[in-house]
Amino acid sequence: MIDMTQMHLNHRLLFHRRQGRVRLLIVVMLVFSLSAIITYLRLFQSCNPDISEEETPVQPSLSTVNWVMGSPQDFADEFTKGCRGLSDKVDGMHNFQMMYQPQLSRLVRERVAASPNDPVNFRLLEIGLGCAPGGGMISGTPGGSAFAWRHLFDLIPESILKFELHIFEFDEKCAMKWAEENVPSVAVKVHIGDASSEEDLERAYQESGGESFDVIIDDASHINWHQIKTLDFMLPKVKRGGFYAVEDIVSSCFGWSANMGTHRGEVTGGTSSCMDTGDAKPTILAHLMEYQRCLVGIGGESGYNRTDKVEFLKEIESIEIQSVIAVLKKRK
Ligand SMILES: C[S@@+](CC[C@H](N)C(=O)[O-])C[C@H]1O[C@@H](n2cnc3c(N)ncnc32)[C@H](O)[C@@H]1O
Repeated sequence: MIDMTQMHLNHRLLFHRRQGRVRLLIVVMLVFSLSAIITYLRLFQSCNPDISEEETPVQPSLSTVNWVMGSPQDFADEFTKGCRGLSDKVDGMHNFQMMYQPQLSRLVRERVAASPNDPVNFRLLEIGLGCAPGGGMISGTPGGSAFAWRHLFDLIPESILKFELHIFEFDEKCAMKWAEENVPSVAVKVHIGDASSEEDLERAYQESGGESFDVIIDDASHINWHQIKTLDFMLPKVKRGGFYAVEDIVSSCFGWSANMGTHRGEVTGGTSSCMDTGDAKPTILAHLMEYQRCLVGIGGESGYNRTDKVEFLKEIESIEIQSVIAVLKKRK
C-alpha cells in the first residue's frame, strides 16, 4: 500500500517536472522568435531609409518663403535687404510693395501649383536698370531693383521655381559695365535699347528667347508717350495670368526732364489735369483710364470708341491704379 502511494507520488512529480520543462521551452522559443522579429525589422529599416520617419525627405515648398506667404510688409523688408539701399520702390514715397506682394505672391503660387513635378521657369523683364544719379541710380551704383528681384526669388527653392531676370536699358556704357559683374549671377541678360522703339523692344524680346514673360515692369524714362508706346507693344508679350506694371505714373501730373542714363531727355509731359500732356496728347493715366472704360464696356453696348483695342483688351482681366503705379493683369 505504501509502495503504491509512493509510486503515485513519483509519477506526479515526474509529470510536473516535464510540464515545467515544456513551459520553459515554450517561453525560450517565444523570446527567441520575438528577438528575431525585432532584429529583422531593424535590419529592414536600415536598408530602406525611406521608411524611417526622421529621414523622409521634406518636399520643398513655398510655405517657408516669408514674402510669398506673408504681407506687403514682409515683401518690403526682403526687398530692402535685397536692393542694398539702391532702389526706391519701397521707400515710403513709393509703396510698391502694396501692389507687388499680392500680385507676385498670387502668380508664384499659381505657377508652382500648375507644375507639381518640375520646377517652373519664371521670367521677369524690368525696363530701366538705374543708371545716372538722380534718376534711379543711388550711391553711384545701378541695378538696385535687379539685386532685389534676385534676392526675393532666391528665397524660393530652385527645385520648384527657376528665376530668369532680363533687364532692358538705354545707357549702354553703364549697362555693359554692370553686366560684366552681374550677368549671369543676377540677371540672365541686359538688353540695350530705347523702350520707345518697337524695333529695339522686339529685338530684346527675340534675344531673350522669344518667349512671353510672366511679369514686365516699365521703370524707364517715365515720359508719357514712352510709357504708352512700351505698354501697347509689350502687353501682348505677357503670359496668361501674368501682369504688366507701369511705375511712376505720377508723370501724368508733373513734368520733369527724363533721366535717360546718358543725359537728361525731354520732359515727361505731365500737366495739372493729369489727363493730357499739353499738346492734346493723352497722358499714361488718360490712356489707362480709356482702357478701363473699354474694359467695363466689353461684352456690353456701352458705345466705347476704341474698337481697335477691343481684341487686345479681351486678354485683360483687370487694370488697377494704385498710388504712383498701375498694373494690368492678364486673364488666365
Ligand atoms: C528709375 S531708373 C530705374 C531704376 C531701377 N529700376 C531700380 O528700381 O533700381 C530709370 C532707368 O531707365 C533708363 N531709361 C531711360 N530712358 C530709357 C529708354 N527710353 N529706354 C530704356 N531705358 C531707359 C535710365 O537710363 C535709367 O537707368
